[in-house]
Amino acid sequence: METIQYKNKSINFENDLKLGVEQIDEQHLTLFRLTRSVSQLLDKSPSQHEIDVCTLELEAYVQEHLGFEETLMSKNGYPGFQSHKQLHDDFTKTARELRSKISNSGSNDFKQAASEVFETLLNWLVEHIMDVDQKAKDYMIPRDFGVQPRPPRINATKNVVVELSGEQKVSGFIKNIGPESLLLTLSSSIPQWLSEGVNVKLHLLPLGDDGEINCSITRTYPERNVVVSLDKKLDINQIAKLING
Ligand SMILES: [Fe+2]
Ligand SMILES: [Fe+2]
Repeated sequence: METIQYKNKSINFENDLKLGVEQIDEQHLTLFRLTRSVSQLLDKSPSQHEIDVCTLELEAYVQEHLGFEETLMSKNGYPGFQSHKQLHDDFTKTARELRSKISNSGSNDFKQAASEVFETLLNWLVEHIMDVDQKAKDYMIPRDFGVQPRPPRINATKNVVVELSGEQKVSGFIKNIGPESLLLTLSSSIPQWLSEGVNVKLHLLPLGDDGEINCSITRTYPERNVVVSLDKKLDINQIAKLING
């Protein structure tokens, strides 16, 4: 049974936070696991890079989750859609600001900044799910809209270099990897042509001869980070090969 430490209390996901909409519950659980991984990392004298990777994935997953909820609420005609979305937008802004605080903090302060991020995210998630999501849950049922939450990504433990080609070529390396999407950090700043929705080819040399995958840019983040969605799914063996070498 999954428990969450919240304001010095232990709360139980199953009893206190489950909405009864399977895909949304799964995403909420993933969000708690990701927040927990930030706090576990903080106990192990992490490097700033490790914290960056971990919090970036958390921020990315928060955004995807909020977008997923919004799609469902809008397709289901939720009357409270606008105010719910406004809360998401405000939070996205806060999460982004907090994370850049970590990236910009000095070598001594990043742990403090990361623990603030962790607290804020956790509090917001618990309160938002218990109140705001709970009220909207009947409008979060996926029915047959064909929208699917993406599976979580995991941290790549070794540096896997990739190249994206579109209008030009840019290179970078994989930070997080999942069957349908990758989180990349580019070696140089994000060029203008590389914006959300653009189709690119991704060259993954470790995959061998057919190491080229069509994909599209899902999101761009400050500090050279990009999420790409893959046109064809990677199988688990390919993922294992990529992240473990
Ligand atoms: Fe939610
Ligand atoms: Fe929500």
